[in-house]
Amino acid sequence: MAYENIRVETRGRVALVTLHRPAQLNALCNALIAELNAALDGFDRDEGIGCIVITGSDKAFAAGADIAEMRERTHPEFYMADPFGEWDRVGRRRKPIIAAVAGYALGGGCELAMMCDFILAADTAKFGQPEIKLGVIPGAGGTQRLTRAVGKAKAMELCLTGRMMDAAEAERAGLVARVVPAADLLDEAWKTAETIAAMSLPVVMVAKECVDRAFETTLDEGVRFERRVFYGLFATADQKEGMAAFLEKRKPRFEHR
Ligand code: CAA
Repeated sequence: MAYENIRVETRGRVALVTLHRPAQLNALCNALIAELNAALDGFDRDEGIGCIVITGSDKAFAAGADIAEMRERTHPEFYMADPFGEWDRVGRRRKPIIAAVAGYALGGGCELAMMCDFILAADTAKFGQPEIKLGVIPGAGGTQRLTRAVGKAKAMELCLTGRMMDAAEAERAGLVARVVPAADLLDEAWKTAETIAAMSLPVVMVAKECVDRAFETTLDEGVRFERRVFYGLFATADQKEGMAAFLEKRKPRFEHR
């Protein structure tokens, strides 16, 4: 499929999606989100892909939902079309997705990054939910995911003032996994994704599911869920291979089953 608003590349078991609307700082119009989901659908189906990276440009991961596209919307139009329902599909993917963020990740850009499993940030990254300045609020999960990531005080301040956080503050606050020099961001993202993609894919998928479960349930239920999944992994060939390889002092050869 030919895409207009994204670029797609695969290397081994890793897929890279680059958001590409440079003139609009990667503002997330409906067509871009549709293309992103089409690409992710393909990677989900492809057994040869074990990890996905979403990135933007040096200047902007994404500067938010497309304000020009939204401005004349009426309530019934928005409600009926529910465009952010389509965005939610990014957050429901079963394979791991890394957001590699340089420059602005604002509004929907910050929300898209937070839908990914973790964020690697360049030291140039800037995060924020500036919707309040447009007379609206975050609409793609920002008030919820940011609060879970950085706690109420900082999330409230960011959502009420529209202030941006730089990469160092975002790392201190727990929004990003790691900050790297901007020049190294993509290399680090490839390397990290390759590390994940070399693990057993079903195990990676259930690890992701278990960590996500921590946000949806009580500690007791979450621990029980994890325990059942852990025991279940002994039905996989990759558990046998992983433990045999350790004891035989060699590298495991995972077959993703
Ligand atoms: N939607 C549409 N176009 C956008 C955009 C957006 N979110 N962000 C930037 N652009 C466009 C600008 O209109 C401009 O286009 P023109 O050259 O045609 O004028 C171009 O991208 C470059 O932008 P700037 O000239 O503003 O660049 P800058 O370097 O001076 O500023 C910026 C960069 C601080 C990121 C600024 O562009 C900005 O504040 N953007 C909007 C950020 C924002 O409010 N995001 C939230 C959107 S609403 C939302 O996301 C809702 C939700 O929860 C899903």
